[in-house]
Amino acid sequence: MQLSVFDHAIQLIRDSRHMIAVTGAGISVDSGIPAFRGDTGLWNTYDPSVYASIEGFRENPRRSWEFFLELYDQLIDARPNAAHTILAEWEQKGLLQGIITQNIDDLHQQAGSHHVIEVHGSLRNLICTTCGQIIHSRGMIFDSVDLPPMCRCGGILKPEAVLFGESIPSTWYFACLEAIRKADTILFIGTSGIVHPVNEFPEIALRHGCRLIEINPDATVLTRLYDMIHLQGFANDVLTRLAEAFNEQ
Ligand code: OAD
Repeated sequence: MQLSVFDHAIQLIRDSRHMIAVTGAGISVDSGIPAFRGDTGLWNTYDPSVYASIEGFRENPRRSWEFFLELYDQLIDARPNAAHTILAEWEQKGLLQGIITQNIDDLHQQAGSHHVIEVHGSLRNLICTTCGQIIHSRGMIFDSVDLPPMCRCGGILKPEAVLFGESIPSTWYFACLEAIRKADTILFIGTSGIVHPVNEFPEIALRHGCRLIEINPDATVLTRLYDMIHLQGFANDVLTRLAEAFNEQ
């Protein structure tokens, strides 16, 4: 009997011994945080080379901070959605070993996931561009009049998130590679898959026989380039369906 794509995915997940998830902006869309690309993506309003690049930041930190404030504002009301919660529950049950996320919104941790690699950093912390001091951003009120916020040393603070043109800290990068190499099944959820280093993960994973499953309403560059199961739909809906299927077993 021919298995449906969904049943095939269930079987792979059930047979997996070390499954991880790689997540992108799409998983947080149902929490009210827009993705970067697509019709309603942030990059339609903010040119990333101007607002979200290290060159743009150095040239005019105040301008970049006006964009960062919008990101901080989005987080005020954002709560984890069913997709974040299901991944956290799967970690607790031992079905999922960890998450690599490109998101800087902290929603995986808020949902209860513990093994999370934030490959693009997060908005939780600020880093001083002069002395390197790291400061927790919780409770800080950013006054748009006094942008950019400054460190006590007189240096300019920036979120501890990777901007275009910046290198990913090597410890974060190597942690990702280790997680990919250990995995026998990877769920790519809500990512366009075009940004480094996520764009290189499928090839690395396939080299050691890892199985790949993508959850996305649209086909992506990953779907087109790599041998993977594509579960078409919103992260919330597809993961809820998968979780129900496991609960029924
Ligand atoms: P993108 O905005 O590039 O892609 C979001 C993906 O989520 C798209 O493939 C959508 O089809 C999909 N999507 C939308 N709604 C969804 C939903 N409800 N459920 C599941 N999928 C959905 O976001 P990322 O791939 O995360 O980097 O972008 C990667 C990086 O590019 C970001 O971390 C950011 C950005 O520029 C930096 O700023 C350095």
